[in-house]
Amino acid sequence: MKPEKRIILCLAHMSGNEQKYIKEAFDTNWVVPLGPNVNGFEEDLKRFVASTVPSGRRGESQPEKTDKRDACAVRDFSEEDYPQSIEPHENNPERLWQEGDERLKDKQVVALASGTAAVHLSLVGVGVEAGDEVICQSFTFCASSHPVTYLGAKPVFVDSERDTWNMDPELLETAIKDRVKKTGKKPKAIIVVYLYGMPAKIEAIKAVADKYDIPLIEDAAEGLGSRYRGQVCGTFGEYGVLSFNGNKMITTSGGGALICPDEAARNNIMFYATQAREGYPYYQHEKIGYNYRLSNICAGIGRGQMTVLDEHIAHHRHLARLYAEAFAEVDGITFHDNPSPEMSSNFWLNTITIDPKLSIKGQENAYKSTVKSAVGGAAGVIHFVDSAHTDCEPNANVEALRVWLDGANIESRPLWKPMHKQPCYKDCAAYTNGVSEELFKIGMCLPSGPLVTDEDVAYIVKSIKEAIV
Ligand SMILES: Cc1ncc(COP(=O)(O)O)c(C=O)c1O
Repeated sequence: MKPEKRIILCLAHMSGNEQKYIKEAFDTNWVVPLGPNVNGFEEDLKRFVASTVPSGRRGESQPEKTDKRDACAVRDFSEEDYPQSIEPHENNPERLWQEGDERLKDKQVVALASGTAAVHLSLVGVGVEAGDEVICQSFTFCASSHPVTYLGAKPVFVDSERDTWNMDPELLETAIKDRVKKTGKKPKAIIVVYLYGMPAKIEAIKAVADKYDIPLIEDAAEGLGSRYRGQVCGTFGEYGVLSFNGNKMITTSGGGALICPDEAARNNIMFYATQAREGYPYYQHEKIGYNYRLSNICAGIGRGQMTVLDEHIAHHRHLARLYAEAFAEVDGITFHDNPSPEMSSNFWLNTITIDPKLSIKGQENAYKSTVKSAVGGAAGVIHFVDSAHTDCEPNANVEALRVWLDGANIESRPLWKPMHKQPCYKDCAAYTNGVSEELFKIGMCLPSGPLVTDEDVAYIVKSIKEAIV
């Protein structure tokens, strides 16, 4: 039966602890973009990002998967782990991670107003300036690359590999060599993304970055809690970006954070996040700064959310298992799972690909209507358009399935349209292999958040099966 309440892609849900921190902020008059909640939230995040998983849960010690159904065996969490609420602050033996990954002991975290601000400041942190080039994964949300342009620099887009849908390390090297040949200059930074939470082939990417001595920025806005060989995504490169938008793994309503390599880098980022003020008794500015700190009220929400971070991660992974098992039975639909044992996605959004030959009911009417109102994470004003067609769009069966699910009160979404196909980036260099364009045409995101129940997944899968002609 069609549910009364719409099943949406992802909305973090409140732990009940948030109001305690917010009340404290009001009671003590810390209603500013600094204060005890901001500090406490940063400490919680720091502990989490420098954590490791107990051996045996890392994935790499698990057997190789043999078929779609076995894919779940490689995840960090077992069925018994779900659901549970864990106070990350306490020495809780049941916690799914342990503190103190020695390799990460210097890492620091700065809480910011958004993930976009974190991308922007990471670029400032590595010294990107007007006229520079920055290599960016093409298959991503626009906030990975837009901040490059805020600085007057130019993105150079690199396509993805098929396994993780993230930056192709070989193509990255090709791009670096070609940029040096064409411009006489190395790109100033590399931005790799953890698309929908899936770990990238980060060791191979880092090896290329190190070989050419180019700073690596990880956009882990979608990847909080994802791990590569047990290490938290966002901690491999120079800087790691996190987002706490309302639709992410945890929320501060809106907010983000930047994982920094050490204390000196943290102080530099903090300087730029607070308007870059020199130490005079009056306001003296020698650099251009930004007003990017997180509010103490929002940070209070973040502290409350940290108490359910593990629960949220476990829930997203639990839903992934349900989808993986259900779609193993459906011809023409493939669930995008961890491609190898060292990858452990948080499955921020669970994604599927749809065989172009699969016929979906109503396909003949696909693209007859345009978006009339802004919905979902990017809510706001949108420009109306006359036609829904562009030269690169999801296949008609994908759009028809989206419309079908919408009619069943289920929100779904096409994959991100690659940045090298966005008109605003038409003048940027791009190194492509067809992977992101193909995936964009056949892929779809399904409801995945903590509010999505097992029954919802069963209903979503049933609705998809019914849509197939
Ligand atoms: C890949 C990626 N990067 C950056 C961002 C920007 O984060 P925020 O919305 O917090 O600015 C988002 C999400 O919104 C994202 O999905």
